[in-house]
Amino acid sequence: MRKRWWHNKTAYQIYPKSFKDSNGDGIGDLRGIIEKLDYLKDLGIGIVWISPIYQSPFVDQGYDISDYYAIDPAFGTMEDMEELLAQAKKRDIAIVMDLVVNHCSDQHAWFQEALKDPFGPYGDYFYIREGKNGNPPCNWRSYFGGSVWEPLPGYDNLFYLHLFAKEQPDLNWENPKLRQEIYRMIRWWLKKGVSGFRLDAIINIKKDLRFQDFPADREDGMCAGTTMLAYADGVTDFLMEMHKEAFAPYDAFTIGELFDFRPEEMERYIGDQGCFESIFDFAPHLLGASENGWYDRKKVTMDEFRDAVFESKAISQEIGMMANIIENHDEPRGVSRYLPKSGQTERGKKLLAGISLMTFGLPFLYQGQEIGMTNKEFRSIREVDDINTLDEYQVARDHGLTEEEALRVISQMSRDNARTPMQWSDEAHGGFTEGIPWLPVNENYQQIRADEQQKREDSLLNFYKKLIALRTNPKYEEVIVYGKQEPLNQALDNFTGFYRKGKETTLLILANTQEEPRSLKLPVPVRRIVLDNCSAVSSAEEHAFDSVNSITLEGYQFLVLEVEDSNG
Ligand code: GLC
Ligand code: CA
Repeated sequence: MRKRWWHNKTAYQIYPKSFKDSNGDGIGDLRGIIEKLDYLKDLGIGIVWISPIYQSPFVDQGYDISDYYAIDPAFGTMEDMEELLAQAKKRDIAIVMDLVVNHCSDQHAWFQEALKDPFGPYGDYFYIREGKNGNPPCNWRSYFGGSVWEPLPGYDNLFYLHLFAKEQPDLNWENPKLRQEIYRMIRWWLKKGVSGFRLDAIINIKKDLRFQDFPADREDGMCAGTTMLAYADGVTDFLMEMHKEAFAPYDAFTIGELFDFRPEEMERYIGDQGCFESIFDFAPHLLGASENGWYDRKKVTMDEFRDAVFESKAISQEIGMMANIIENHDEPRGVSRYLPKSGQTERGKKLLAGISLMTFGLPFLYQGQEIGMTNKEFRSIREVDDINTLDEYQVARDHGLTEEEALRVISQMSRDNARTPMQWSDEAHGGFTEGIPWLPVNENYQQIRADEQQKREDSLLNFYKKLIALRTNPKYEEVIVYGKQEPLNQALDNFTGFYRKGKETTLLILANTQEEPRSLKLPVPVRRIVLDNCSAVSSAEEHAFDSVNSITLEGYQFLVLEVEDSNG
């Protein structure tokens, strides 16, 4: 694997609307991010990805862009953005933007032109097709519910394609003019000083152009739009072209949001000659999913989490570095989702942090994860803002769930779980804003907040700092960044164990994912505790001990051990 500057970094995702509001309008903004750069630096963050800040009508929270060259006034100005880039650079933090180019907003000038003249040049920027006697061209369902086809206003039998909301028309990547417009825009931002991009929903840019029906997968007679991906060949041709024309000249950092890809294409994605630098590892997040919708999802155990992660490392680690997450702005909070009830404590949260950050790959934190923010309990559907959640709620109700049952589903799965404002302090609204926040803060903000954890030596936040610092610790950097990951005792229930085998040093990672203590025979003698979630001490030297062959782990104990015969 070719070495890259970002391999030993830790990345952090900011959801700008909910991070820090600097002017009291209840919406997080760029000045708020600037205020918190020192906090991120102190945590050890080297890369920050900011969810979309472009001009947008916010139908899908900025993932519907109406001008790729403008900052939305809710977030600030282009001068604020330039200042953010300069301030981040001073602190050696790379800023990564969100690149949403599968679709734009229906308010984008391109779409407005297409509406005026569907047969003109801008009509060809989108997928506009004839229907079947006034009905949609085919039976695909959009990600957010309903048909992917929306009638083109003013025409009898013309429809445009939108895999997401109807206000997010899909861009026609088959059109070379459109592709050039996008590459030009990417180069413009890179030239400004952005270090790279996270590529939104990128697998969808290649369509099955036959636009045919597939067998229905729900009572509504439709099939998931993603069904077509199995028949859409050639997405990597587009991606390679984009890499060559837009990213390579600036040596940009790129990370793909990629679902439904074919494992045999891993090399094409993140190999040395691949079209991206990295992709997110969503394997654990896909567990338990049902084509029927959220109401039919199964609860995931820590053992299933472990197996999914091990499997994707087995496929990818010789090829490239995927990014490890436990949550993001589309997923529920990791600690609420993966930890058993008895483990939803600070100790359990440290264990999950430890597993995630000691796993081979680029650690990618989501705002609030470092302090253990949790899911929220939704008591009424009126508390929900997210378009995806509103649809899934309806799907659950249509299937016969009571209001209460449907709300329970939403409380577990809603994207708004992760979108509540960041909990900075015990001031009103968690210190996020001096006004009224656009989405209410989680009620537990007095217990779970950054200022308290900064002061407390044994806090989750400080545990994250130690984990992050290990990645650049001269003694452990090589093994943690590049050491091969191998499972240990994978057949044991409620247990996650693995080796990281570096050139000189071998680490053994043990996580007792249950309330009960357990004794364990160690396969190799160990001589040093590098990290322990049951003790506030972290310095390796202080914890050296005579080589031991067995060990007793407390409930939810997490240990990083250094193996005896490694000569580090
Ligand atoms: C991605 C984003 C999600 C958005 C969707 C459409 O999955 O992460 O938030 O709704 O794409 O842009
Ligand atoms: Ca604001």
